[in-house]
Amino acid sequence: MNEPQTSLERQFSGQIGAEYEMLKLICPASVDMSRRVGETLASRVNKAGQTQQVMELGCGTGITTLSVLAQNPGLQLRSVDNEPTMLNQAREHLSAWLDKGQLSLEEIDALGALRQCASASLDAIVSAYTLHNFPQDYRALVYPEIFRVLKPGGVFINGDRYALDDTIEHTKLIQQEIEAYFDMLMKMNRADLLEKWIVHLFSDESPDHVMRLQPALDAFNAAGFNPVEHRFHDGINRLLLAHKPLI
Ligand SMILES: C[S@@+](CC[C@H](N)C(=O)[O-])C[C@H]1O[C@@H](n2cnc3c(N)ncnc32)[C@H](O)[C@@H]1O
Repeated sequence: MNEPQTSLERQFSGQIGAEYEMLKLICPASVDMSRRVGETLASRVNKAGQTQQVMELGCGTGITTLSVLAQNPGLQLRSVDNEPTMLNQAREHLSAWLDKGQLSLEEIDALGALRQCASASLDAIVSAYTLHNFPQDYRALVYPEIFRVLKPGGVFINGDRYALDDTIEHTKLIQQEIEAYFDMLMKMNRADLLEKWIVHLFSDESPDHVMRLQPALDAFNAAGFNPVEHRFHDGINRLLLAHKPLI
């Protein structure tokens, strides 16, 4: 099947990707979310002691990958990303896990990776701050694929930017976010990086990309997930735990 025409923009190929770890300073909420994704997976760990087969969509530089691995010892993790700039950093940060054979890192887009998987073959799929970057038409294809490849009883754990359905309140939050970026990056004399993040935010907020909460929940439900738990939420940052029913 052909990819949608709007798919696979390379938003992390430039300076944002090269200096992605700066996000730990300018957006500490994202690091906290990575911790929560790993913690949520740990709460689901198979007590029978079987190795969990897990895929991570959009591992970036490995911040969430590390959290997932550190909190889930009995795990085989396949982490994918379509951006070499990010993956090269992940390879450095996660070399110990790669050496142990517990992790594989692959340059491939999320939909392509999912399509390679057999149906009902994975215990969990995890992701943080990846899906909101997808164009709407591409994202619409991803939900049913995630559902297909999960085993019955499997889960999709996604910590991400979910735009508020109340657009006025949402705009206020984005304005606060921009103020915080200016505050932090101007103090660091990094107008160059500030410019890149503001440009990136325009993409996140564009109608082609914006991941509004209710349409996202509708897409989860339409794919067959039930229930979809809201495990955490702070402003636009939200952690969803979506279950594939046992039967
Ligand atoms: C905001 S970063 C988040 C990185 C990481 N998950 C974390 O928690 O730090 C989004 C990542 O998703 C990747 N990405 C975006 N679209 C993708 C796609 N279609 N397939 C695979 N990765 C994608 C980007 O290259 C980038 O590394």
